[in-house]
Amino acid sequence: MYASLKSIGSYVPEKILTNKDFEKFIDTSDEWIVQRTGIKERRIAADDQATSDMGALAAQKAIERAGIDKNDIDLVMCATLSPDHLCMPSTACLISDKVGIRNAMAFDISAACSGFVYMLSMAKAFIESGAKKNILLVGAEKISSLVDYTDRGTCILFGDGAGAAIISATEDKNEAIIDVHASADGKYSDLLITPGCGSKYPCRAENVKDKLQYIKMAGNEVFKVAVRTLTKDVVDILKTNNLKSEDVDIFIPHQANLRIIEAVRNKLNFPTEKTVFTVAKYGNTSAASIPMAINDAYEEGRLKKGDLMLLDTFGGGFTWASALVKFGGN
Ligand code: COA
Repeated sequence: MYASLKSIGSYVPEKILTNKDFEKFIDTSDEWIVQRTGIKERRIAADDQATSDMGALAAQKAIERAGIDKNDIDLVMCATLSPDHLCMPSTACLISDKVGIRNAMAFDISAACSGFVYMLSMAKAFIESGAKKNILLVGAEKISSLVDYTDRGTCILFGDGAGAAIISATEDKNEAIIDVHASADGKYSDLLITPGCGSKYPCRAENVKDKLQYIKMAGNEVFKVAVRTLTKDVVDILKTNNLKSEDVDIFIPHQANLRIIEAVRNKLNFPTEKTVFTVAKYGNTSAASIPMAINDAYEEGRLKKGDLMLLDTFGGGFTWASALVKFGGN
């Protein structure tokens, strides 16, 4: 039995925050942001919209497109760094409830921007072992709730949104998740971190006053490790599977920064027409970035059944992951 990515869906909030909008409240410019990041605008969730609300809308679309009965879903996983609640219930439980899935196992995973590809690795194992048959994966983020809008080095980068996929058992290898590589190295944990509101610096007035609840990032250092790691990831997974860049139909990298994507793409000789770029319109949506990008490629008609996708991602932890996936949807 193989695991197949049968469908994809996404949701983006209506509100758009442009680079020009930032010019009104921080010392920055549209020109600087576009030149350093490639980002032009990002979506921001409404005040009363939580991560699970966006995740549920993306999930509904993925379930509809897979053409399965939601009662046949036996596992729901959600990757997020901006859960509705810090400890419990999990965002996966809330999404299950909003979508109407009862009695399925449900839990969140914490792997920052690599979360969606980490979940693919787990879904593949659950299905190949015969333990589960239909799995709902959701990458959803309300990162605007973790961003310090006075810190110009981070606030311009992130946006909100959600993506979801259905992974089902199949006997057809031509629509299977071929391989997933996922790794981590905690020695870099301080370079990209939300220090507060966990057990180390609890959500108390003094820690909130010090703004420890917000994302802190050593941008320049993250940038260098990201380029190096994302490139190595692709080289390794292609080599392990005896494939070349030319064998890949569509390259879908994590959408953090256009310069990072371009550095990796050029090193590996992926043509622009085979690469998906959504960073200009959404910014970095962390765990939602890869499924949102797959969704846009699908809706633009760039993804057909059996196409070989190469996914490549990197995030806080540090975590990183790549995947070779034959698209199983219609
Ligand atoms: N507008 C204008 N100037 C800004 C700015 C902004 N939004 N943000 C930072 N700057 C300034 C800095 O203060 C610094 O000024 P100084 O030289 O007077 O001190 C200058 O620009 C250069 O800062 P630096 O951090 O070296 O810029 P950079 O070229 O590395 O670009 C990032 C900054 C954040 C865009 C870039 O480092 C980056 O994208 N890093 C990776 C981030 C990422 O992808 N993280 C998620 C991984 S999943």
